[in-house]
Amino acid sequence: MPRHFAGLHGAATLPTNHFQLVGRIISDLVDFHATGVVHGPAGTGKTYAVEAALEALRDGATGTGIATVNLAFPSRPTMRLVADELLRALTGSKAPSSRSRFYLTAALTDLLTAAPRLVVVDEAQRLTGDCIELLRHLHDHPDTRFALLYVGGDGCWEVLSREPMLRSRIFRRLPFQAIKRDQVPALMRGYHPIYTSAADKLLWEIDDAYGHGTPARLGRLHPHRRHDLRRGRPRADRRRSDRQRVHPARRRSAWLTLAATP
Ligand SMILES: Nc1ncnc2c1ncn2[C@@H]1O[C@H](COP(=O)(O)OP(=O)(O)OP(=O)(O)O)[C@@H](O)[C@H]1O
Ligand SMILES: [Mg+2]
Repeated sequence: MPRHFAGLHGAATLPTNHFQLVGRIISDLVDFHATGVVHGPAGTGKTYAVEAALEALRDGATGTGIATVNLAFPSRPTMRLVADELLRALTGSKAPSSRSRFYLTAALTDLLTAAPRLVVVDEAQRLTGDCIELLRHLHDHPDTRFALLYVGGDGCWEVLSREPMLRSRIFRRLPFQAIKRDQVPALMRGYHPIYTSAADKLLWEIDDAYGHGTPARLGRLHPHRRHDLRRGRPRADRRRSDRQRVHPARRRSAWLTLAATP
């Protein structure tokens, strides 16, 4: 599984509906060499879910064992940068700067013809129309065989859907959302040992004050506050289950501090 934000120790992967759907969507894209989009609010777990699905693909856990390329660009990259980075990701080396973008595009076409692949572009809201058009051109070439997945946060769908040539080619689209409130207690109990024996009421209180159904926020809670939330300092003679329980008297100040964190 991918690494958790801030290296959170002991946290599990939440099997949210969206997390599971990403695996299915990627499998469809790979089967049909098609284009897809996963987008939604920050911290809802898009990158984490895609990375987990890519790991499974690379390990052959899904039976495909397909090569994957995962890219993210700075804001408003040039077409040259996109071509350069894709080439570098596919070959392991950078093309000489003397080569024109048209040379790079031809080289990319050859490389993307060789074997089926999945190309993922994260933070896709940063792309310009020209870059989207370059990727579409490569994808539409009759000889290339690759699936293309755009992943992005706020504004991603607006940027991509503005390009009619791309929009008409999107085979799968998954808008991510925060975890639904009624699913929060069960998911949180499985997320980290400190929540295992907490009551629904407390878990909703945590989510309302701070988590807002967002895995990234729930993860951020622990590195800063986990000692505040337990039954005081761990003692050798205290049972492990007691040590890990959330301390009701301490929780309110902890949530309030966190609720003020952006
Ligand atoms: N399904 C999950 N189970 C457990 N933890 C998760 C899950 N999804 C996300 N997280 C936690 O939340 C953190 C942030 O998630 P992620 O980076 O995937 O968010 P994002 O939706 O890509 O946000 P952004 O739009 O800002 O890129 C992860 O590093 C991980 O610790
Ligand atoms: Mg992300």
